[in-house]
Amino acid sequence: MKSIVVTDQAAGTAGMKLVERPEPQGAALAGLSNASYGDVVVQVRASGFTGDELSWPSTWIDRLGRDRTPSIPGHEVAGVVTALSYGTTGLSVGQRVFGLTDWTRDGTLAEYVAVEARNLAPLPGDVDFTVGAALVMPGLTAWQGLFEHGRLRVGQSVLVHGAAGVVGSMATQLAREAGAYVIGAGRAAGRQAALDFGAQEFVDLDSDALEDVGGVDLVFDVLGGDIAKRSAAVIRAGGTLVTIAGPTEARPRNGLTVDFVVVPDRVQLSEIVRRARDGRLRTNIGTIATLDDAVAAFNPTKRISGKTIIRVQP
Ligand SMILES: NC(=O)c1ccc[n+]([C@@H]2O[C@H](COP(=O)([O-])OP(=O)(O)OC[C@H]3O[C@@H](n4cnc5c(N)ncnc54)[C@H](OP(=O)(O)O)[C@@H]3O)[C@@H](O)[C@H]2O)c1
Repeated sequence: MKSIVVTDQAAGTAGMKLVERPEPQGAALAGLSNASYGDVVVQVRASGFTGDELSWPSTWIDRLGRDRTPSIPGHEVAGVVTALSYGTTGLSVGQRVFGLTDWTRDGTLAEYVAVEARNLAPLPGDVDFTVGAALVMPGLTAWQGLFEHGRLRVGQSVLVHGAAGVVGSMATQLAREAGAYVIGAGRAAGRQAALDFGAQEFVDLDSDALEDVGGVDLVFDVLGGDIAKRSAAVIRAGGTLVTIAGPTEARPRNGLTVDFVVVPDRVQLSEIVRRARDGRLRTNIGTIATLDDAVAAFNPTKRISGKTIIRVQP
């Protein structure tokens, strides 16, 4: 199968190549002697990736710390199930699915991927594969940040950083839909997009004073650093700073800081796609490229906005 691989950590993105790799073996997978308990094989129709994946240890080593190169990046998928292993529940061959694959296994910038069934949810027939793939990481990250870690409730207020960006635009929409008051933040150029995604106010971090924002119950941070620290000061007693930008020293007074990495969740994916079908949630896709052009898409020469999706098969 055609796949994008990386083999040399030092080479970074310059070492990414489009190559032929063996497909995951559906027939072997179904056998009782196989160790892939609960896996399915998915024919990838659309794939998503995170730009800094090559800096993650999980791209280079498996859970036991062993070199796992050549490894296939990309961990967001929408596609069709082509084989089931022993122990698979809830999915069938031919079913449309979408989800997040294990960071420490071969990913989705390929024609096929083996993935645990529990990481996938059914993708309704009227949702395009590119939309399905674009909902996975931003949708789950926003959902988990707002509702699991941030415990956001109706009537509360939330400051969403990068509200015009990929994850921030999902967080803005989901928070608003859940009945929260949403203050978006970002660069001036993102103001209209953030308001269109549902923010009721916008803070331009280059020229407005973040400190003028009234007390909020939750900050959803995607930037980290100094912005996370300054944001902690606008959180009400008992409130929470949730960040997806890695560990931070930012601490709200009398509040909680949570930094987390998104995890797969079938139930949440189903909630997310239901909102997309109803028109309550839209994706923020910036670029759609083919697998042949995926190396270039992973290494854009200029700053691009919106999610990049690789359309692997029509
Ligand atoms: N922990 C996790 O589970 C997890 C999951 C998903 C993503 N992430 C990480 O979260 C981060 C955000 O991802 P994303 O896909 O949402 O990125 P994105 O689409 O680039 O969104 C970032 C947004 O913030 C704005 N921004 C960037 N720097 C800014 C600054 N200094 N001041 C004001 N606004 C600024 C950007 O504006 P411009 O476009 O104008 O620069 C953009 O609108 C990435 O680092 C990603 O790796 C973590």
